[in-house]
Amino acid sequence: MSNLHGKKILIGVTGGIAIYKVLDLISRLKKEGAELRIIMTKAATALVNPQTFQTMARCPVHTEMFKDEPTYDVEHIELAEDCDLALVAPATANTIAKLACGIADNLLTTTLLACKKPVYFAPAMNTNMLHHPATQRNIAMLREMGYGFIDSNSGFLACNIIGDGRMAEPQEIVEFMKTACTEKDLCGLRIMVTAGPTIERIDPVRYITNDSSGKMGYAIAKAALDRGAEVLLVSGPTSLEVPSGVQFTSVTTNEELYQAIDRDFEGIDVLIMAAAPADFRSEVVEDQKIKKKDALQLQLVKNRDIIGDFGQKKTHQTLIGFAAETEELVENAREKLRSKRLDYIVANDVSEPDSGFNVDTNRAVILSEKMKIALPLMLKREMADRILDLLKR
Ligand code: CTP
Repeated sequence: MSNLHGKKILIGVTGGIAIYKVLDLISRLKKEGAELRIIMTKAATALVNPQTFQTMARCPVHTEMFKDEPTYDVEHIELAEDCDLALVAPATANTIAKLACGIADNLLTTTLLACKKPVYFAPAMNTNMLHHPATQRNIAMLREMGYGFIDSNSGFLACNIIGDGRMAEPQEIVEFMKTACTEKDLCGLRIMVTAGPTIERIDPVRYITNDSSGKMGYAIAKAALDRGAEVLLVSGPTSLEVPSGVQFTSVTTNEELYQAIDRDFEGIDVLIMAAAPADFRSEVVEDQKIKKKDALQLQLVKNRDIIGDFGQKKTHQTLIGFAAETEELVENAREKLRSKRLDYIVANDVSEPDSGFNVDTNRAVILSEKMKIALPLMLKREMADRILDLLKR
């Protein structure tokens, strides 16, 4: 279940042209199961009719500080208190400036000033307005006060120029909100995650590698980061985007992977070895491309067993390995757990089409000396969280 499920999110909509993206954002947040309440400024209602937001979000849209009909509720205080977090999107230079100065001259700014929950801004404005020293100062002041910012991107703006100030995409904002809503239960842990394959050269154009996509390791790195850990990601070649906020090291060969781990091993609390290091390398790496011939014999030599070596060296570190198996899943994994001196091993049957290499899902069995947990088919991100649950103190 999404960690936005049941979260009460107050969305403040101000009068920026990026308002059109907020309808998509609202639809995405609804799909995640969030409960929304919306405040629109007067400028926002001049761009999009509140009815559109009301229908999309299936919640009342608040616009007026003082209504014609008498009410005894103090609306801005109720709105400020009855939410888990607030998001201002698009956040114009004007609303950002007002909040930085404590100005409360409409329902949104008054509510935000009364709100003690986390508040995030998704700025959207012309590049010059964004780079103006006053705006930069206002953003810095709000950051200093503890407000969060979902940085705008660079791109084609409504004012017909290409530059900074384009509001973050709805998908990015949802991801940011999910992270913001994740319990920081791994704070204080320094976790190294390895991911992806390694490559062993045969000649300048050929190499030995394997099918690892890196998806499981990257999912663990992102989940650990979201949960407040300090994350070091050491990765072989993959096509994946590096999660921002991790300390990233790119490696190619098995030996480079070993050296990268060794550099930081002493200072980490946990090593999660999701990488699939090549078990063999060519005894000879040719300087020139090997020419075609009728038959070619390659002499392969064994690479070091990286996690096995760190299993021998470990002092305080928790070691979590993976077992990629095509038969005798639990028996083979238990043997690896013992021989490599691991604390836990995550065993998966890589011959199944929906688990193992190159897919977004996985099913696995987690083993330690004392326990066995069977994890049914789930997204790799969910599995990442289940693996990280082992580290909760
Ligand atoms: N591993 C490692 N160094 C290697 C090979 C594997 O550190 N040279 C790690 C993997 O990252 C994984 C665990 O060891 O965490 C088990 O990997 P796996 O490929 O399942 O097993 P192997 O030890 O390579 O044994 P086999 O291929 O014979 O099953």
